[in-house]
Amino acid sequence: MNGTDLEPADDHGSAPAVYVHHQHPVPDPGIEEHIERYTDANPAAGRRVYAQVVGMLALVPVMAIAFIVIYFAVPRQASIRLGPLYANAMNVGLGVTGGLMVALIGFAAIQWAKQIMGDEESIDYRHPILSSREDREEFLSMVDDGVRQSNLGRRRLIGAALMGALGVVAAPAVVLLSDMGPYATPSRIRATLEKTVWAEGVRLVNDVTYTPIKASEIEIGQLVNGEPEVIAHMEGAAKLEAIAKAAIIVVRMDPKSIRIPASRKNWQVGGILAYSKICTHVGCPISLWERTTHHLLCPCHQSTFDLGDSGVVIFGPAARSLPQLPITIDSEGYLVARSDFTVPVGPSFFERDSRHDFKKGDN
Ligand code: FES
Repeated sequence: MNGTDLEPADDHGSAPAVYVHHQHPVPDPGIEEHIERYTDANPAAGRRVYAQVVGMLALVPVMAIAFIVIYFAVPRQASIRLGPLYANAMNVGLGVTGGLMVALIGFAAIQWAKQIMGDEESIDYRHPILSSREDREEFLSMVDDGVRQSNLGRRRLIGAALMGALGVVAAPAVVLLSDMGPYATPSRIRATLEKTVWAEGVRLVNDVTYTPIKASEIEIGQLVNGEPEVIAHMEGAAKLEAIAKAAIIVVRMDPKSIRIPASRKNWQVGGILAYSKICTHVGCPISLWERTTHHLLCPCHQSTFDLGDSGVVIFGPAARSLPQLPITIDSEGYLVARSDFTVPVGPSFFERDSRHDFKKGDN
């Protein structure tokens, strides 16, 4: 061993954790002289800081209550002006109160640690990884010392206030869970998840130009992205929600090259079929169409549906066929829906009844 290294007094873990300094290239400066803080020297200042810490922690429940009140009382559409910007009033309120809760706890902890906790430095010498019994006892006594220096024994109110503050921080999080509602009762499911804006007589329109789609204008092998005509007259969130469920693709295939089950003979017009555009796996929009094989490929996880066989899954993680929209033509030759979809579109949900989904071989 050269003279600049540290060497344990004994090379067994049970040896006392003492190192011998053979030689130091730099003299060990030792621990700096302890300088008393203002709050150590002045008991009145210490009491003021103590009151500040308790005060900050006491404000946390106030902020938590304000958070909950804002969540329920502020209308979701309300906005406020921040200089040149408009912001959602509820989001601003929740952000300010939630942020203050965290900030108050943080400031209180910093003030407590810097001004009230003991600040005397101590040394813990490096030692072998396996701690000796003496080391463990020493560690435990240091922990006891730390607890004593935290002044929690004497300043019990800080401990109680901190526990209370941390406890109420969970309350707003629990309130936010209510946004996962309302609970999916059968009637609510029928009115929402199982329903789209498609209905008997609603025209199919191009999803960009909103032009009604004429059966005679679609060629064999062509795919058109479509929507119900009623969407053109909708606005805002209601429109986005309607599009998310009602988007379709319209394809034309040679009727002789595809399988049209007897139960769906009236759902198509000379080989023109309409399907939901929403993948039944996790809901990506699909329109990667292989016109020669009649396969439709989802770009997200490669589920593949056979549109020449009522949209059954032939590859990938999707578990259900692509829902088909029953269509016909009106007196002017435009494509119109015969009804809404007969099964819910999109991904599965817990309460979904899958008994009516089309399966390979069904007729
Ligand atoms: S969303 Fe289509 S395969 Fe996953």
